[in-house]
Amino acid sequence: MLIIKDVSFSYGKEPIFSGLNLKVEQGEFVYLIGKSGVGKSTLFNLIYMNIFPHKGVVRFENFSSATIKPKEIPFLRRKVGTIFQNPALLEDRDIYSNLEFVLRVTDHKKKEVKKKVLEALSEVGISHKQKSMPNELSGGELQRVAIARALLNEPKLLLADEPTGNLDPEITDEIMELLKRINRRGAAIIFATHDYELVKKHPVERILKIDKKKIFRVRLKKG
Ligand SMILES: Nc1ncnc2c1ncn2[C@@H]1O[C@H](COP(=O)(O)OP(=O)(O)OP(=O)(O)O)[C@@H](O)[C@H]1O
Ligand SMILES: [Mg+2]
Repeated sequence: MLIIKDVSFSYGKEPIFSGLNLKVEQGEFVYLIGKSGVGKSTLFNLIYMNIFPHKGVVRFENFSSATIKPKEIPFLRRKVGTIFQNPALLEDRDIYSNLEFVLRVTDHKKKEVKKKVLEALSEVGISHKQKSMPNELSGGELQRVAIARALLNEPKLLLADEPTGNLDPEITDEIMELLKRINRRGAAIIFATHDYELVKKHPVERILKIDKKKIFRVRLKKG
């Protein structure tokens, strides 16, 4: 589903990635760990095609960084959901409208949009807050809304960039359980974090570490 082949990238002179390789299969849940500044968010930006490799190729399904046209990028992004540390909702409208906005209502689709929005809110257990404004929700609730927003287009891949970074341990566990459920339904998830405790507490099949401008598979020591 996702193949990153021999990718090199730098913002300035100093390379961030050099000869980086990665494959993620449909339905996988992988952690992406590594020190602050090592390039976790940069990798997500490459997958989302916000930025392009200087060497090598990023391929997601039928989209390739080498050949994609600017007008095709929105189609790629519909298949890739993103969740960040800060949920960043639009503060001037309620939760329902925040999600509706993503699907850009045209009149004839209004019913269909409503169904999708309500389904996504229900999926993350936040239907009862649809008429609330973002500033009336807790951090954990806001992150649930952000996850619902990411699910609207039924993405095949979710890029989660430290989505629990601002949450307390209990709420973090709830969000992890929610993401695991979404994953079991078929969406692959790449979860970036530098919280080793979280990785130990919620084990998944594969842990990837960015180090020395490449990605390695690692195993955490027990205890
Ligand atoms: N738009 C940009 N322009 C120039 N340099 C950038 C830009 N974005 C990131 N960088 C640099 O690229 C490097 C990798 O940044 P990145 O945000 O990918 O790290 P990270 O692993 O996500 O870190 P963190 O764990 O703190 O989120 C850093 O040295 C950062 O300063
Ligand atoms: Mg980051």
